Amino acid sequence: MPGVVIVGAQWGDEGKGKITDLLAERATTIVRYQGGNNAGHTIVRDGEEFKFHLIPSGILHSDKACVIGNGVVIDPRVLLSEIDGLKRAGISIANLRISANAHLIMPYHVLLDTAGETKLGKNSIGTTRRGIGPAYADKALRLGIRVQDLLDEKILRVKIRAALEPKQQALRELSVQRRKERKAAGEETKPATADTMGGIDPRPDLHAMVEEHISYGHRLEPHIADTAKLCWDALDSGETVIFEGAQATLLDLDHGTYPFVTSSNPIAGAATVGAGVGPTDINEVWGIAKAYTTRVGAGPFPTELHDDVGEQIIEQGHEYGTTTGRKRRAGWMDLVGLRYAVRLNRMDSLAITKLDVLSGVGPLRAAVRYRSKEGAILEEFPYHQSILHSATAEYEELPGFDDDITSCRSARDLPAAARDYLAFISEFVGVPIKIVGVGPSRDQVVLLD
Ligand code: GDP
Ligand code: IMO
Ligand code: MG
Repeated sequence: MPGVVIVGAQWGDEGKGKITDLLAERATTIVRYQGGNNAGHTIVRDGEEFKFHLIPSGILHSDKACVIGNGVVIDPRVLLSEIDGLKRAGISIANLRISANAHLIMPYHVLLDTAGETKLGKNSIGTTRRGIGPAYADKALRLGIRVQDLLDEKILRVKIRAALEPKQQALRELSVQRRKERKAAGEETKPATADTMGGIDPRPDLHAMVEEHISYGHRLEPHIADTAKLCWDALDSGETVIFEGAQATLLDLDHGTYPFVTSSNPIAGAATVGAGVGPTDINEVWGIAKAYTTRVGAGPFPTELHDDVGEQIIEQGHEYGTTTGRKRRAGWMDLVGLRYAVRLNRMDSLAITKLDVLSGVGPLRAAVRYRSKEGAILEEFPYHQSILHSATAEYEELPGFDDDITSCRSARDLPAAARDYLAFISEFVGVPIKIVGVGPSRDQVVLLD
């Protein structure tokens, strides 16, 4: 089937990178369609671990085109450092293509994201502080800088000046505030500089910023392309194109747990906008979910565990963020949320990852409904923020398993309890589970039919 979307079914970090790398074998083209370097996608091959933030997870296949679509926001510094890392590792980036229409994360976006989070204090979203929200905001305000602008100094200068104009006040206040903070801490009180602001100058020097970005343009130019056309050509030739989502359904700006979401649309439907193809170009949707649930950052999480079992899952699953290193919150599988994700994305197939992590955890639980604080039973994922925030999960308990399943490669190798757990999930959400992850490595999978 030519157009295949891979989408996160929970709150991110489900193992999309690994499954994309795996399914890429039958594709010619892999396209990231949204998000930026808030994403962290891990692939483990032959014992070597690769972490990608912007580069599509097909890059280890040297014969595939890897595309950063128009829907992605690109921090050119991060992209170039990823490219350098790949080159050092001897991995070819000859087939990397970057949409000329993708928007850039500029240094002031990173500053504003960080400042916004700091200002909100304990009410913060817990963003990755990579400038994602401010970059998408500028895109919507028509103040965005696009990849193609890196190729024309005059246009770039005009556009950066226009983008900075409405931010001057905020950036000035930020500079003053940082100075005060440093003074209070007994540090030097000269105006904030790039050195004191994590490499980003709060009083941007337009000339220097333009120069810097033109040099990024020179380096990226060989990869800049009309990537929508590239997808059309592949699809029209009957080739398989994988559209790789970042983040996940419950972090979707429209359908997730707003405002505790990211600033783009990870759901499968957004692949058309973020890559430039039509809805009928999508033939297959794969949802990726962990065998339990994790979340990084703030926001509702009805099945969250605050006990030793939660800690055991975090430790056994190494649940620490790929991008920020933050400890992830962990909880039981949430089938109310998963069924919601199945419908929103109209998934055909599920991959359930990290089943191995549940070994030795004891009886397994899966949320099958929520209960509101007034006592009402909620069979569906509630659209009302206040209801969701105070909802508690009600569970079905299933037998656990203690066996080490990391060497299992077929369904009959799995313990009966693990098979029953998978069958329960699949039946509840009405979608076949076709891949089961039993370890981080690409060969640590069980394929089900
Ligand atoms: P992504 O953002 O969805 O690509 O996922 P991340 O890479 O952020 O997080 C998933 C983590 O789980 C990574 O460290 C993977 O190497 C690891 N992983 C993926 N699948 C499995 C699995 O089946 N079992 C185990 N134990 N780890 C896995
Ligand atoms: P991958 O692709 C998990 C979360 C952040 C925060 C919220 C908003 O690796 O699954 P943002 O920086 O996007 O404005 O932060 O979204 N978040 C992720 N959580 N995995 C991710 O990506 C995420 N990208 C963003 O923690 O709660
Ligand atoms: Mg991740």
